[in-house]
Order: sequence, then C-alpha cells, then structure tokens
Amino acid sequence: MLLVAQTGNPMKQDIIIIVAMTRRGVIGNGNALPWHLPEDLRHFKRETRGNTVVMGENTYRSIGKPLPERNNIVISPDRRSGGGITVCRDLPTALGTAQSFGKKIFIIGGAYTYEKALPYADYLYISHIKKDYEGNVYFPEFDPDRWEVISSEEYDDFCFKKYKRR
Ligand SMILES: NC(=O)c1ccc[n+]([C@@H]2O[C@H](COP(=O)([O-])OP(=O)(O)OC[C@H]3O[C@@H](n4cnc5c(N)ncnc54)[C@H](OP(=O)(O)O)[C@@H]3O)[C@@H](O)[C@H]2O)c1
Repeated sequence: MLLVAQTGNPMKQDIIIIVAMTRRGVIGNGNALPWHLPEDLRHFKRETRGNTVVMGENTYRSIGKPLPERNNIVISPDRRSGGGITVCRDLPTALGTAQSFGKKIFIIGGAYTYEKALPYADYLYISHIKKDYEGNVYFPEFDPDRWEVISSEEYDDFCFKKYKRR
C-alpha cells in the first residue's frame, strides 16, 4: 500500500503528532499518564478541537470514551465502528480515513501508534514536561536535527513547542 512503502506525508492535510513527554521521553506509566496537568489537557483540547484524532487501542481504552467535538479514529484489531468512533485496522487505513474527513490529522498516541506514525508526520507538537515523572512507556527515538522549532510557549509545568519537519 502506498503509505506503507514511503516516508513523508503524501496527503493534503497536515499530519501532526501531539504528545506530552518528560526530558527522558516518558509518556506513560502502565496504561495511564504519569501526571495530572489540567493546563496541558486544556491546551490539547484547544489544538485538537474541530479536527481528527487518531489513536491506538490502548490509548482509547485509557481515555475510555470518544473525545467530543473531534472525529475519533481508533486503530484496533477487533473493535467495531460506532458510538462516536471510526475503527481502522492499521495506520495507513486510519490516515486514509482521516483524510476523507478533510480536517487536520492529530496522532494522539500511544507509543506504538507514535512509532508507526512518525515517518509520516509533518509536525510534532510536544509539551515538554518540566518535572521528572517515573514511567515505563516512552516516545520513540527521533532525530531532533530533522525537526525545526517553529514556536515555543512557556507554561508553569511544561513548555509547548511546535516542530516542523526540515
Ligand atoms: N503523554 C502523552 O501525550 C500520551 C498520549 C497518548 C497515550 N499515552 C500513553 O501511552 C501508553 C499507551 O501506549 P501503547 O503503545 O500501549 O498504545 P497505543 O498506541 O494506544 O495502542 C497500541 C495497540 O493498538 C493496537 N494496534 C493494532 N494495530 C495497530 C496499528 N497499526 N497502529 C496502532 N495501534 C495498533 C495494538 O493492539 P493489540 O496489541 O491488541 O493488537 C497495539 O498494541 C499509555 O501509557 C498512555 O497513557 C501518552
């Protein structure tokens, strides 16, 4: 399939990975976030509202319900579409479906899904969490030299940076 064979985004809409991580790259602990940062959640909502969010099965389970005011696509081996979510079996199908919605495409996790989506992403939106939280789920390795910081906002508990692929 076209999307599997190549790196880069062949579609019209931007593909944006949005993630919160510590300096060590921790993004989760078990199937939960290691922190409770309402400001970051508000921020996440502002960025993704009105657009399409794509997530893996574990992240959907962790959130527990579709995110309101967004098209929700869940990549899952056995779940069925309905009740506010569109289910796809793999990332290329999810991206194709997301494209048909005509909105920005946000990849919202988790680790497995980020790793699969990284080659296609045009932007990384990263909340760099200032405190060092323990966890056992990490963002996949990526080469910072390939990404240019295009904006940076400072908050009490995190710094939010937008990176564009060079
Ligand atoms: N800090 C953040 O910004 C952030 C955001 C989101 C999530 N998280 C954290 O990330 C952790 C969950 O990450 P995760 O890697 O376990 O889960 P995930 O990416 O949400 O889901 C992965 C699972 O989805 C299913 N799947 C099957 N095919 C897939 C495909 N092609 N692409 C994607 N998923 C597919 C697989 O289930 P089967 O193995 O059953 O086939 C796979 O194990 C949690 O700790 C969560 O809190 C953090």
